Amino acid sequence: MELRKPPPVRRLTGYEVPSSPPSNGNGLHAAAGFRLPARLGAPSMVAIDRMQVEELSVSYGHKPAVQSVSLPIRQGEVLALIGPSGCGKTTLLRSLNRLTELTRGASLRGRITLDDVDVAHMDATALRRRVTMVFQQPNPFPMSVFDNVAYVLREQASRRPRRAAVQGAVHEALARAGLLDEMAGSLDHPALRLSGGQQQRLCIARALAANPQVLLLDEPCSALDPVSTRLIEELIAKLREDVAVVIVTHNLQQAYRVADYVAFMYLGELVEYGSAHKMFGSPREQRTKEYIGGAFG
Ligand SMILES: Nc1ncnc2c1ncn2[C@@H]1O[C@H](COP(=O)(O)OP(=O)(O)OP(=O)(O)O)[C@@H](O)[C@H]1O
Ligand SMILES: [Mg+2]
Repeated sequence: MELRKPPPVRRLTGYEVPSSPPSNGNGLHAAAGFRLPARLGAPSMVAIDRMQVEELSVSYGHKPAVQSVSLPIRQGEVLALIGPSGCGKTTLLRSLNRLTELTRGASLRGRITLDDVDVAHMDATALRRRVTMVFQQPNPFPMSVFDNVAYVLREQASRRPRRAAVQGAVHEALARAGLLDEMAGSLDHPALRLSGGQQQRLCIARALAANPQVLLLDEPCSALDPVSTRLIEELIAKLREDVAVVIVTHNLQQAYRVADYVAFMYLGELVEYGSAHKMFGSPREQRTKEYIGGAFG
């Protein structure tokens, strides 16, 4: 069995808390061209270092997609990856649980650790249980709502557990994804008949059923209506206490609403990384200012 060393816990002082709720009304200023929305959820008082990305570069053939990116990923915080199309956000996200290695021609340099262990040395399946991913298009399996979540638990067991044995864990994952009450009478209904927003929350429940340390969300709301988007944003804000969350989004208002930290990428490079407060209030780099101000997208 893989030994898990307890990660260092960093307690945040009031001063360091990056998301002391800034809003238009309390004297904080937004970067030029950016309207500050209200932030969701209370900031976590604890941050635990989970992953470190160190000098990561990824290429497809000879074409660089990510260049020398370093950043931390912490439980207790939501990290938003922003930047124009093609700047390497998905590539970076997929590298965190070694999905990039499934792409032919992709090569990777640098190091990524999870709880101080190099992910390259881990069993890929075990890693993908600890660092789970939800994609842009909801992709429930063609089976019942219950079985979608149970699938993950059954897959982990050496013998297929009976329904009663996984029921508690299935309900817990659905509850964490804010779906249990809504689905109470429909657990045996086909998942593909749910609305798009419900399907995406089911995919989040399925990702949470593996009890991951890190949850990766690649534009999880881009195919959804505003009400479903709001539900998922509220869910993300709640989850950060227990899971490190990394979200890719093109919606800057969304990034400000949910993220504690923001990484702005441009042409594969990490241009700027900082608290949401700083990035959307007073970004340091000119390119960040222009992107946040809507000069290019
Ligand atoms: N499978 C692939 N094979 C070759 N090149 C790829 C592949 N996937 C991505 N790329 C290239 O790598 C670069 C980064 O792509 P990536 O998908 O990571 O960007 P992104 O920031 O997620 O973009 P978007 O916002 O449009 O989703 C782009 O130039 C893209 O064309
Ligand atoms: Mg992408």
